[in-house]
Amino acid sequence: MKLQADGDLAAAEARYRLVVDLGYRLTEVLPILAGLLARRDALDEAVEQWDALLAIDADHPVALHEKSLLLDRLGRSDEAVACLERSCRAAPDDAIAANNYAVMLAREGRTMDALTEWRRALAVQPDNIQLRHQMRRLCTEQVPFWHIPMMNDTRRNDAFEAAIEVAIASRGPNARVLDIGTGSGLLSMMAARAGAESVVACEAVPIIADMARQIVAANGFADKIDVFAKPSTYLEVGVELEAPADILVSEILSSDLLTEAVLDTFEDAHRRLLKDDAIVIPRAASAIGCLVESDVLKDYVFVDQVSGFDLSRFGDFAAMKLPIHGTMTDWRRLSADIELVRVDLTQKRHESDLQVLSVPVVADGVATGIVQWMQIDLAEGISFDNHPDGYSDGGWLQILHNFPQPIQVRAGEVLDLAVGHDRITLIVQPAPKVALTAVSQAA
Ligand SMILES: C[S@@+](CC[C@H](N)C(=O)[O-])C[C@H]1O[C@@H](n2cnc3c(N)ncnc32)[C@H](O)[C@@H]1O
Repeated sequence: MKLQADGDLAAAEARYRLVVDLGYRLTEVLPILAGLLARRDALDEAVEQWDALLAIDADHPVALHEKSLLLDRLGRSDEAVACLERSCRAAPDDAIAANNYAVMLAREGRTMDALTEWRRALAVQPDNIQLRHQMRRLCTEQVPFWHIPMMNDTRRNDAFEAAIEVAIASRGPNARVLDIGTGSGLLSMMAARAGAESVVACEAVPIIADMARQIVAANGFADKIDVFAKPSTYLEVGVELEAPADILVSEILSSDLLTEAVLDTFEDAHRRLLKDDAIVIPRAASAIGCLVESDVLKDYVFVDQVSGFDLSRFGDFAAMKLPIHGTMTDWRRLSADIELVRVDLTQKRHESDLQVLSVPVVADGVATGIVQWMQIDLAEGISFDNHPDGYSDGGWLQILHNFPQPIQVRAGEVLDLAVGHDRITLIVQPAPKVALTAVSQAA
């Protein structure tokens, strides 16, 4: 120990080995020797020392914990996880082991198990900032920030609830509802409150599904709503759903309309999970936009001369769309509002689409691109939009679909755009001079 304290680690290691060979105070010396070996990256040899200790005491929590960390460094992650699980079982109050175990589980994609470990550790050490930070880190990686502003978007919520009430009134008290992408469980609870007989809710992100289950139970709807932690494509009639649903409610529209795979999801639901005449909420959605000039946005998407150098080629890598806060970003409209794309969600099949759209220019300026928002058709006479002139309080943003280059335009001219979608993203570009034919892309 003196040699070790003086920094002569090689000599100390040789002496510790001697002591181990003599079998003297093994339970104290083996951990020291393992630590020295790990310090000089002799990881396999360090594992051997911990194994020697585990041969004496198979449930030694420190040996299991330290061995697990070494196995992890050696890339033997499955063994590391198993070893750390044993350590946590042997010492349930060890918050550091629980934290390390949770980190490993999260890394392996076992997010629900990781969350359970962090909750268990926090019950032991409620003031442990590390634990709380790691748990929040996992949650925020899994749960996008827009969930909360979306839930607080009263106008959105009221529009969905009105459409749900109309649908249930028309189908009667035996209505069976399917809620795809339930999030907090909000739309399912609206359906239950409106008198649905039963609601099957699914949520692809397991920790969100777990939270929805808790919220549904806390609000007294556990007997009406079943929450399944799986994507809708994994649901089956006869398993999660007793029968095809009468009503589909699903809010999986992204700010740019299609990116959350709404077309694939609705088509799959129509094909397998819904009655033929099911009511679908929303029943259609449109991307609306206008031509804009913006000094602020132009610096996000175009580059030219910088510090006397020509960097314009880097513009090839510019984002093709940029989420913006329409009410907070400085831009000036150069056209009226125009419908870019409309998807009818009652349809059983959608093809990709590309057309020329002629946009009358109403003001002189340098067009940066199209600012786009959404209009959602929920039911007869019930709609919602996040028009940038009035929408500043929800989860949806507006999207700038920027052009490859700024375009000088004059009032009275017409700018031809190529507009459509490839089923998952919107296409909004200046049209080439040659005529466009619609392209079809496989789903
Ligand atoms: C925009 S949020 C809406 C949440 C809730 N329905 C609401 O309106 O408050 C969409 C949720 O759907 C989930 N999701 C998207 N597609 C899904 C699918 N095909 N199956 C299950 N969950 C899905 C996402 O993980 C996300 O939590």
